[in-house]
Amino acid sequence: MGRRLNPFVPSPRDVLNRAFEEAGIVPGSLMVDLGSGDGRAPMIAAKEFGAKAVGFEINDALVHHAEQSRRRLRLNDVRYVKADIRHVDLRSVDVVFAYLTSDALEAIKPVLMTADEETLVMTHDYPIPGWEPSEVLRLRSDTTARTHLFYLYRIRDVVRRIGRSGSGMGPTVPTTPSISIRTLFDEDA
Ligand SMILES: C[S@@+](CC[C@H](N)C(=O)[O-])C[C@H]1O[C@@H](n2cnc3c(N)ncnc32)[C@H](O)[C@@H]1O
Repeated sequence: MGRRLNPFVPSPRDVLNRAFEEAGIVPGSLMVDLGSGDGRAPMIAAKEFGAKAVGFEINDALVHHAEQSRRRLRLNDVRYVKADIRHVDLRSVDVVFAYLTSDALEAIKPVLMTADEETLVMTHDYPIPGWEPSEVLRLRSDTTARTHLFYLYRIRDVVRRIGRSGSGMGPTVPTTPSISIRTLFDEDA
């Protein structure tokens, strides 16, 4: 089974809204949250920006909670999947979001490197070790009364700087079977 890399700490909704606007999420975008907690980020991406959105989460209770909220809000373009984010394939995803510590981000670099060159990776509060962000957003939250940092990485720029292996870490593609994200939307759930 999977290993939990970080505990659940939610991102404030107000900063997520602004961060996703800056990330250029538009109707039809495919957005993924790696470690989706209560599911708020995919719900915002779908409800406010018209994206298709997927949350991967290892904790059963959180997946169940997120699914209940999704049904209540009738968000047909959101999926929650119980999965270990160390075994996800990010091909064809437009925006990847992660609120994880730098240690956890280091551990999932091979997964991030499965994304396409056009993909934007956005991390909250913690940068990806060894990767140079193309932009850093400083967004003040009324909920937490503090400034939240969002680090934006374009995979094309990362590959140009350090190559596909992402600073020499591990394999480029996860070795265990991974979930194909587009197929999650093949039939209505
Ligand atoms: C800091 S919370 C962020 C929640 C949400 N993304 C947000 O920003 O509101 C990190 C989440 O990652 C989940 N997580 C930790 N390790 C994981 C793993 N190996 N696979 C999937 N989810 C994991 C935790 O259960 C937790 O819900």
